[in-house]
Amino acid sequence: MNAKQAAGYRAADWVEDGMIVGLGTGSTAYYAIEKIGERVGQGLKIKAIATSNASEELAKQYHIPLIHASEVEQLDLAIDGADEVDSNMALTKGGGGALLREKLVAINSKQFIVIADHSKMVPHLGSFKLPIELVPFCYEWTLGQLRRNYNVPIEMRTRDGELYVTDNGNYIADAAFGVISDPGKLSQELKAMTGVVEHGLFVNIADMVVVGYEDGRTEVIE
Ligand code: A5P
Repeated sequence: MNAKQAAGYRAADWVEDGMIVGLGTGSTAYYAIEKIGERVGQGLKIKAIATSNASEELAKQYHIPLIHASEVEQLDLAIDGADEVDSNMALTKGGGGALLREKLVAINSKQFIVIADHSKMVPHLGSFKLPIELVPFCYEWTLGQLRRNYNVPIEMRTRDGELYVTDNGNYIADAAFGVISDPGKLSQELKAMTGVVEHGLFVNIADMVVVGYEDGRTEVIE
């Protein structure tokens, strides 16, 4: 058992028969999907929506029934990882590039449980570079505006020497803020910028955090 596994497995306890569940993305969410999949194999009846193509594939491997958003108005529960969690349960997400779908699923869920190994718990967000999803059209202008506005290092994310493309066909810029003293204010500012599709700050969205430790212990913060 490692810390991510401990958190992911524990969060699966909140999944109940009949629920519509949002499945997160990343190496911690992997364990939650694995455990939920095991429970589905034992007869748990749920339906799910995945936040990335990768998580959708994993869900299919475990025969977790997937539905389309048009079939439901709201999810009962979403479970997802985070890159940083501060003392007010504000999050940085999007290290894996799935922030837009993750935020859509989280805000449209009655309950959002964050799963994190203990290293993700921080006093202030910002050490982890904040992912900002950009429309590809004229992204150079949006990037330039971000750099002028904040005067911090901001780099386009790449993969294999090419610009990284999200599941939604957009690009990602990673911004090294250092310390984000007011995540709510920054969240609103970024959201107001033309060319920015979404960003990885999740403020006042998480209802609970399940923290995992290397020895298999978990701690629940509400
Ligand atoms: C995916 O886009 C992210 O938001 C992940 O949830 C986040 O990066 C945490 O990933 P790990 O669980 O792999 O650390």
